[in-house]
Order: sequence, then structure tokens, then C-alpha cells
Amino acid sequence: MRIRPVLLSLALLSDLLVEAFLINPPNHQSISASLTKRRKKKPPKTPADGWAKYFHEPGGTDLSNHYDSRYEHGILSYEEKQDSQVHIMRAYLDFFKKNNIETWLAHGTLLGWWWNGKMLPWDWDIDTQVSGPTLMFLGKHFNGSIYEYNSADSDPDLQPVVERQYLLDVNPAIVERDRGNGDNVIDARWIDIRNGLYIDVTGLSETEPLDQPGVWSCKNYHHYRTTDLYPMRETMFEGVVAKVPYAYDRILAEEYQEKALVVTEYEGHKWHPDIKEWIKKTPDEIKQERLSRQQARRKKQEEKAQRNKDKEEKEKAEQEAKEKGEAVPDEGKKDEKEEEHSADQGIKEPEKEPIKVKRNAEPDPEPDPEPVAELELMRESSGLAHLRHRHLDYIV
Ligand SMILES: *[C@@H]1O[C@H](CO)[C@@H](O)[C@H](O)[C@H]1NC(C)=O
Repeated sequence: MRIRPVLLSLALLSDLLVEAFLINPPNHQSISASLTKRRKKKPPKTPADGWAKYFHEPGGTDLSNHYDSRYEHGILSYEEKQDSQVHIMRAYLDFFKKNNIETWLAHGTLLGWWWNGKMLPWDWDIDTQVSGPTLMFLGKHFNGSIYEYNSADSDPDLQPVVERQYLLDVNPAIVERDRGNGDNVIDARWIDIRNGLYIDVTGLSETEPLDQPGVWSCKNYHHYRTTDLYPMRETMFEGVVAKVPYAYDRILAEEYQEKALVVTEYEGHKWHPDIKEWIKKTPDEIKQERLSRQQARRKKQEEKAQRNKDKEEKEKAEQEAKEKGEAVPDEGKKDEKEEEHSADQGIKEPEKEPIKVKRNAEPDPEPDPEPVAELELMRESSGLAHLRHRHLDYIV
């Protein structure tokens, strides 16, 4: 007896479905139209899209993006990473110097140099640049070469001596200087074959010599003026000779804003001007900071509550005064003043509402100090004033 209604309703349902489709058959035409529409939105394919992605990273998390898939054996600890980065950089710079090939520091690596001639300890990217012709030269003569690195070459006092091997791998898509789908914006890699950590090398080419002469671009749309790049400045980075672009400060400010040159706390690290090092905050320091932030927030809330309370009381008092028929003293005065003022000027002003005097409103925030002065102040307090001179001293 119970089955019947179920069957009945199923039959009804299927009837309804059929009917629905008869009245409204699925609109294949509109579906395919919307698909072609979506396809049309993509930018037109360029020759650079024809290249398969050359360099691969395990991906997944942000951290595992910093290893080359072929040589990666898991994520390094903070200490292992620092050690790897110092030597990978020294090896790279040694190799270029020995072969008399020009390369220079770029992006976050340049920013690290600006602070203290070292890598930024929280940064996993290491970036360098070369000119377009250098890139072609590397592809032709040094692709696939393994560099046998021995730390005693650059620092004979170093004990124990570190011996490592690095691979220079040049992307075959270097012949294409257009960004394309973005799969091949990295032109070459210098890879630590023990753990897959790498330096990204990108080439700069004058991609539009007619429309934009003297503008050099990488495949990821960073642009540089010839006069900002050259003449290169010779300096030291991680204890070895390196080069930086001529107008490094302008390049950095354009890419990272002036802030990156003055802010002294970043990514869990704090700049210590006395030793000129970025030091990772200890768990204790982080806890202390969290506590004092909480305290500050609480204090602010209390102050706000007090202000609201004061305001309410004042309003109540005013209301009571009004009810008793008393005039509010200073509002009246203000009106008189207004009239005197217009009379003085001899300007006839249209009738207007009495000006409301701001009462108990939040105090006006302190005006910002002159931004440039503020920058200077931060620079002084962060110890950067010397730092800049120190850099300039060892730039030859
Ligand atoms: C570099 O060598 C690799 C491995 O042999 C090769 O796949 C790649 O195409 C080469 N790159 C260039 C620019 O020739």
C-alpha cells in the first residue's frame, strides 16, 4: 500500500521532467557560444607560448617553490638554507668573475645588498640579471656546465672547507624575449645540485629599440633605463666581489617603495643597527610584542569608551540646560563673531545656519610630519645613515 504513492510520485516527476525538457530543451547553442566567448577573452597566442615550461618546481606550498624539481629532497631548515644561500651566491659570483662574464644583483637580492651586503635572511628568492647578449653567450658556451666550488678559493680562512657543485642550466626559450604565457620568464638557473636551491637569472633586452630606445626589459616586465644600469658599480656581496646597477637606490625605490629602505622590522626579523644584521626574532620577543600590542589595543578601547561617556554626559547636561530655557553660551558668541567678521570684509553673506561648534568630537589626529623628514628620521634611527656611506665606500 505504501509503495503506490511513491511510484505515482516518481511517474509524475518523470513526466514533469520530460515536459520541462520539451518546453525548455537544453540550449546547446548557448552553451557553446559561452565557451567560445570565454576562449576569446584570452590574449592571442604569441610565439613565446609555443615553448613548454622549462624549469619546474615541486610547488604546492610557497616554500617548496624555491627548489628545482630535479634536485629537490625536501624543504631545508632555516640554518641549512642560510648556509646554502651564502655558498650558492659565492659560487655563482666566482664563476662569472673567473669567466669574465658580467652579471649583477637584482630584486630582493639587491635590496639585501643595500642593507648590509648580504642576503635578506627571510628571502628564498635569489635573483641576478645579465644582458641579453650575455644570456645567449651563456646558452651557447656554458649551458649544462657544472661548477666545482671550493670555499677556500674565496676565503682561505674558512674551516672546514665547503665543496659543492652547481649546475648552470639555460632555458632554450631565451631566444624568445616576449613574456608569452609566463611559463618561461626565468632565463637560466644556477642550481645547488645537493638540494635543488637555485638562483634565478634573467636577461635584459632592449625589446623595443625604436619606440623605447635605452629601455631594457626582462620577460616579466621589469624595465630599466640604460643610464640606471650603467656604468655598473663594483662592490662586495656575501664576502665576494659583485656588481650592482649604477642607480641601485632608484631601482630599489621604484620596485619596493622607499619604505623597503627604511622599515626595520620585516617577516619576523629585526634590523640591528649596531651589528648591521637582520636577526630573526626569538619566540620570546614575538610573545612580548603580541602582549604589548594587546595592551595598546585595550588602552585605546578604554579611552574610546571614556570619550563616549563624557560625550553622553555633556549632551545630557546641554539638553537639561535647554529644557530650563538657558542659552548655550558659546554658540551665541560664535554667531556674533561671524557677523563681525563679514562686516569687516564688507562682504554680504547670504543668511545661513549658525555654525555648529564641534564639541567633544574625537580630537583631530596629529598632522603627519613632512614625509621626507620622517624618512630621514627613520633612516637616522635605523642606523642607515652610516650604512649608505659604508656602501659607497666599498663601491669602486
Ligand atoms: C641547455 O641544456 C639542456 C639540457 O641538455 C637543454 O634541454 C636546453 O635546451 C639547453 N639550452 C639551450 C639554451 O640550449
